[in-house]
Amino acid sequence: MRDLPGLTAFVTGAASGIGFALAGAFAEESMNVMLADIEAPALESAVARLAAHAPRIASVVCDVSDHASVLRAAQLTAAAFGPVHILCNNAGVAGGSGIEAISTETWRWVVDVNLMGVVHGIAAFLPGMRAHGQGGHIVNTASMAGLQANIGFSPYVATKYAVVGMSEGLAKDLAAEGIGVSVICPGFVRTRIAEGARNRQAAYGHAIPPAPGSAGAALAAAHAENAEAGLDPDEVAARVLAAIRTGEFYVFTHPEMRDEVDVRFAAIDAAFRRAEG
Ligand SMILES: NC(=O)c1ccc[n+]([C@@H]2O[C@H](COP(=O)([O-])OP(=O)(O)OC[C@H]3O[C@@H](n4cnc5c(N)ncnc54)[C@H](O)[C@@H]3O)[C@@H](O)[C@H]2O)c1
Repeated sequence: MRDLPGLTAFVTGAASGIGFALAGAFAEESMNVMLADIEAPALESAVARLAAHAPRIASVVCDVSDHASVLRAAQLTAAAFGPVHILCNNAGVAGGSGIEAISTETWRWVVDVNLMGVVHGIAAFLPGMRAHGQGGHIVNTASMAGLQANIGFSPYVATKYAVVGMSEGLAKDLAAEGIGVSVICPGFVRTRIAEGARNRQAAYGHAIPPAPGSAGAALAAAHAENAEAGLDPDEVAARVLAAIRTGEFYVFTHPEMRDEVDVRFAAIDAAFRRAEG
């Protein structure tokens, strides 16, 4: 999609980090933007920061883990701006640290937000995108953790691999319909991802922090430090805009992490060679 001005984008997780940067970048392109997020006060201040773009900015409190909530957000977006052209399934949380500290409730929370949130976004917006026939683009936020796994964070890695996999299938499904798909796979980005538990819904119980001095605590601390030193979210948003314009599928922002993916591919390749032999 080359001509973005006047089109409409819906962005989840838009109150903070990468989602806010995406919303701002779309607004700068004179698009209509619906910002969706579970955290109402943060959403309000995000909209205030984009006030210069009124009346092309609106917001909706939406829990992506709840299908009905996303359907309602889709209806409100259509009522505010008409057809939606760009869907960013971006909301995500990074629950879990050391594998021994990950409860089943944490697994469910991360799967419901990171994976089912993307499923709900597609279910709520794709029928409208197909029906209006003006073309569209779906941007799913995965991670480098969707292409290679490190220790800890198993639910996060599982959901991000799933988002990469479903995006690959979706791109093939929609190729003939003029609806593009991109999957974003960033390394560390300077956002509030390490504080994801701030928006953990009561239904999933309290997050249990890893015991002080445990391997899980060390992992969580390293994760927070890496995010703090990470890429500016605006740089991620700029890459996404370019990908929408040119129809790129994989969107990488951390080329220095290529080696880690190469190691995985080499292991897979070696396993195939053993199978052949
Ligand atoms: N920051 C990184 O290093 C990094 C790296 C790779 C991928 N990502 C991915 O980027 C995406 C955005 O995260 P971020 O880094 O900007 O973190 P962030 O915490 O700054 O922003 C995430 C936003 O998602 C919202 N959110 C959480 N649960 C929600 C729910 N149930 N429904 C709706 N909104 C919800 C939060 O309120 C928050 O505004 C996530 O999918 C994350 O996995 C982040």
